[in-house]
Amino acid sequence: MVRLASWALLLCADAVVARPGAPSNLHRNSPGHAIPRLVHSHASPSPFFSDAAAHRSVKRFDGNKVRIENVRNEGFRHNGPAELAWAYSKYGKTLDRHANNRVSTGLVSAVNQSYDREYLSPVLLGTPGQVCWLDIDTGSGDLWLFSTDTPRFYLDGQQIYHPDKSETAHRVANASWSITYGDGSYAGGGIYRDTVSIGNITMFNATVESATAVSRSLTTDPVMSGILGLALDHPSTTYPQQQTLLQSMGPMLDMNLFAADLKYQDVGAYHFGYVNDSSYTGAMTWQPVLPRSGFWEIYLQSIHIGGDKVWRMHNWPMVADTGTTLLLLPTDLVELYWSFVPGAYMSEVYYGYVFPCNATLPAFDFGFSDRWNATIPGHYFNFEAITDTECYGGIQDSMEPFGILGDAFLKALYVVFDVENKRIGLAKKKLLA
Ligand SMILES: *[C@@H]1O[C@H](CO)[C@@H](O)[C@H](O)[C@H]1NC(C)=O
Ligand SMILES: *[C@@H]1O[C@H](CO)[C@@H](O)[C@H](O)[C@H]1NC(C)=O
Ligand SMILES: *[C@@H]1O[C@H](CO)[C@@H](O)[C@H](O)[C@H]1NC(C)=O
Ligand SMILES: *[C@@H]1O[C@H](CO)[C@@H](O)[C@H](O)[C@H]1NC(C)=O
Ligand SMILES: *[C@@H]1O[C@H](CO)[C@@H](O)[C@H](O)[C@H]1NC(C)=O
Ligand SMILES: *[C@@H]1O[C@H](CO)[C@@H](O)[C@H](O)[C@H]1NC(C)=O
Ligand SMILES: *[C@@H]1O[C@H](CO)[C@@H](O)[C@H](O)[C@H]1NC(C)=O
Repeated sequence: MVRLASWALLLCADAVVARPGAPSNLHRNSPGHAIPRLVHSHASPSPFFSDAAAHRSVKRFDGNKVRIENVRNEGFRHNGPAELAWAYSKYGKTLDRHANNRVSTGLVSAVNQSYDREYLSPVLLGTPGQVCWLDIDTGSGDLWLFSTDTPRFYLDGQQIYHPDKSETAHRVANASWSITYGDGSYAGGGIYRDTVSIGNITMFNATVESATAVSRSLTTDPVMSGILGLALDHPSTTYPQQQTLLQSMGPMLDMNLFAADLKYQDVGAYHFGYVNDSSYTGAMTWQPVLPRSGFWEIYLQSIHIGGDKVWRMHNWPMVADTGTTLLLLPTDLVELYWSFVPGAYMSEVYYGYVFPCNATLPAFDFGFSDRWNATIPGHYFNFEAITDTECYGGIQDSMEPFGILGDAFLKALYVVFDVENKRIGLAKKKLLA
C-alpha cells in the first residue's frame, strides 16, 4: 500500500495526461520528422470524422441514456514502438536515448495494416455546439483540446474549439493547466467554462482546457481535437484546481457510471449513465478500485496463458486505460507470455517483444478470486507487422510493478466504470472477430 500510494503520487507529480502523437522525447531525437511524416502519409480528411458522422454516431435513448459510437482512427500512427514509448511517457517514464533512436527506426519500417490504435468520439462544445472528436481516456483527468488559442503553427487540420463563437464560453481568470512530460516537453494553456454535450447529456459551465502551447509531437494526429479524461479521482492538471468533467457529469446521469464497448477492428461505443445488458453475456464481475490510486485500478487475481497447465494466483495491480493501445504487464508476466511463442524475443531494434508473424499467439486468460474468468484471444496481441516476417507484440513490458489494461485487452470485454461505487464491472461479450 505504501508503495502504491507513492507511485500514485509520482504519477500526479508528473502530470500524466493526454494521448496523441508520440511522446515528445521521440520528437526530440528524431528532429520532428519521422513521426509527422508517417502520419501525414495516411492522413487524408476522412469522411468518418465529419459533422454528419458525429450526429449519426450519437444515438439517443429515453431518459438520460446516451450511447456514442466511437470511430477507429485508422489513419493514425501505426507503430508499436511509438505506442509503447507513448504509454511510458504517459505514466511518467522516458525511454533512454538509444531507445528513441530505435523507435525512430521502427517507424520507417511500419507496414500498412488496419489497427485499433485509437477510438475517437464526437463531443459538442459551446452554444451553438461545435463538434470535436475527442479521445475518451480513462487514464487521465483533464478535458483539453486545441482551440483558437492554439497557434496555427502547431495544428494539422484538426477541428478546433472556437470559444469566441460560443455564447456560453467564459474565460476563467488567472487559471491555467499544464502537462509536463518526463523530458520537460509541455502542453498547457488557459481555461474556459462552457457547455459540453456528450450525446444529449449536457453539462453547463464545464471546465474546458484550451491549449496555447503544445509540443509539436502532441499535434500530429489530424483528426483528434483533444482528450476527454475520465480517470477516477485523478485531479486534473488545472491550477487552481477546477472541477473535472467526471465530477460535472455525475449529477446529469441516471446512474453515475459509464461503460466502454470497444471492438476489435470495428466501431465500438461508450455508454453513459446506464449498463446495456444486451452488450454482454454471462455474469458481470465487480472489482473494487484500489484505494488512493486515482486511476481505474484493480487487482487481477489469476492469470493463465495458452496451453499452460497452471493458473497463477497473485494480486496484480492493473490500470484500466482506454487511452493506451497495448496491454502492458510487469516484466515477469511479459516474459511468461512470450515464452509460449516460439521465436518471440525482446528486440533491441524495435524496443519490445517481436514474434514471427506466422506464429499462433496464445490466449490470455485472467480472473478474480470470485472465480469469474475470461479470455482475450491471442490474435488481439498481434499489434502490427514490422517486416515481412516479424510482428510487433500487443503485450509489452510496463516496466512497473503494475500493468496497464489498454485497448488490446479492453476490446474483448464489456467494461463498466462505476463512479458511484468506485468499482469496475467486467463481462464477456460476443466477439465478432
Ligand atoms: C435525451 O434525449 C431523450 C430522448 O430524446 C430525452 O427523453 C431525454 O430527456 C434527454 N435527456 C436530457 C438530459 O436532455
Ligand atoms: C498494404 O497495402 C497494399 C496496397 O494497398 C495491400 O495490397 C496490402 O494487402 C496491404 N497490407 C496489409 C497488411 O494490409
Ligand atoms: C488575476 O491576476 C491579476 C494580477 O495578479 C489580478 O490583478 C486580478 O485581480 C486577478 N483576477 C482574478 C479574477 O482573480
Ligand atoms: C455559468 O457561469 C456563469 C459565470 O459564472 C454564470 O453567469 C452562468 O449563469 C452559469 N451558467 C449556468 C447554466 O450555470
Ligand atoms: C445495447 O446493445 C445492443 C447489442 O449490442 C445494441 O443493439 C443496442 O443498441 C444497445 N442499446 C443501447 C441503449 O446502448
Ligand atoms: C514460419 O515461417 C518460417 C519461415 O519463414 C518457417 O521456418 C516456420 O516453420 C514457420 N512456422 C510456422 C509455425 O508456420
Ligand atoms: C473459470 O470459470 C469457470 C466457469 O465459467 C469455472 O468453472 C472455473 O473454475 C473458473 N476457473 C478459475 C481458475 O477461476
